[in-house]
Amino acid sequence: MAHQKEKLISIARRLLNHNLNGSTDQADNVMVKPVSDYTNGDLIKSEVSKIFYDHPVPIALSPELKENNSYKATKAIDTPVLVTRDKDGIVRAFINICKHRGAPVCPEGSGTKSKFNCMYHGWMYDNTGQLINIFKSDTFGDVDTSKIKLTELFCEERAGFIWVCLNPDIKYNLDEWMSGFDKELDDIDLKNWHLFRSIKLNGPRWKICWDGYLDGYHHHMVHPKTVGKNTIVNLIAHDTFGPHQRFAFGLKNINELSDIEEKDWEPENHLRLIHSVFPNSSISAIQNQHCLVSIVFPTPDLQGTITSQYILCLKEPKTNQEIKEAEEFAKLALVSIEDEDYPMNFMIQDSIDSKANTEFMFGKNEPIQQHYHNWIDKLTKKNIL
Ligand code: FES
Ligand SMILES: [Fe+2]
Repeated sequence: MAHQKEKLISIARRLLNHNLNGSTDQADNVMVKPVSDYTNGDLIKSEVSKIFYDHPVPIALSPELKENNSYKATKAIDTPVLVTRDKDGIVRAFINICKHRGAPVCPEGSGTKSKFNCMYHGWMYDNTGQLINIFKSDTFGDVDTSKIKLTELFCEERAGFIWVCLNPDIKYNLDEWMSGFDKELDDIDLKNWHLFRSIKLNGPRWKICWDGYLDGYHHHMVHPKTVGKNTIVNLIAHDTFGPHQRFAFGLKNINELSDIEEKDWEPENHLRLIHSVFPNSSISAIQNQHCLVSIVFPTPDLQGTITSQYILCLKEPKTNQEIKEAEEFAKLALVSIEDEDYPMNFMIQDSIDSKANTEFMFGKNEPIQQHYHNWIDKLTKKNIL
């Protein structure tokens, strides 16, 4: 895509100029945040409710529900969610709780089926959420099944993600929330990638965890043998789209571009591009062949997070060599998060109540976290959207 190439060339040009000048994209000021923003349980509870429940969040990837009549049952914080794709390809989401007496209608997992038998007494729903059968209905009593539906959530499929609002009372205008970021995501064409593997990881609390996903200032220390082997630390090109962000790290070969005419650049070989969907999802593509998507939700007690980590390949790997490359990418992605980022984040979390600090700082060279925390404030304190 010519437009995508032009975009990457312009990002590479910014990174190259920064690297030659010893500069990086910056925020206007150093930002200071009270440590209590990370530790005050009542505050975090209220923020999670306003941010994760009252705004659209990605709950699944389109490639997870590829077929018509496929589904995914999962949990987001404390809400069990059933996502379905019907026979015509339309995606819907429901709270995965039966109208009889509150049991799940589908165990957690994914696959293809169009009818869901409640796990307790066997009431049956179709994939539009409609109750279609009451077990032993002749003895149950007079109930009009046509009036009983699972509680539906706002749900829209866009840009390779399935977005939901966990609060069923909210109907959202996704255009407003996207602020043009869906066009950026469309350039990745995530919906047509092949899902190679998905796993779940336990992580530290939400903000400590997510700060790590937005950090371009730690690769030399935390990832010297993995992602930091190839990226230049503290070299960022940063752009924002409403609450969402796109940022790129320069690779160590970026200066080679100085000797090549721009029209001959292959910019994807000189930068690492990350799309960060507010508040909890990240797409990190490497050389446009493999990509890592992470979706992070707080645990119900808000004391940790669950990360769904997806490895995708541009095309389904078929040869031994292609499978080996996908495995290697998966290993690199997993090691850098599970064995490097999260242990560092857990160390911060373990001593955050020590009274060592009353404040944390985000430098001018950390514009990504600054933007994120500013949006938390905007959405929870001023309610601008
Ligand atoms: S709780 Fe679902 S059938 Fe009884
Ligand atoms: Fe990291």
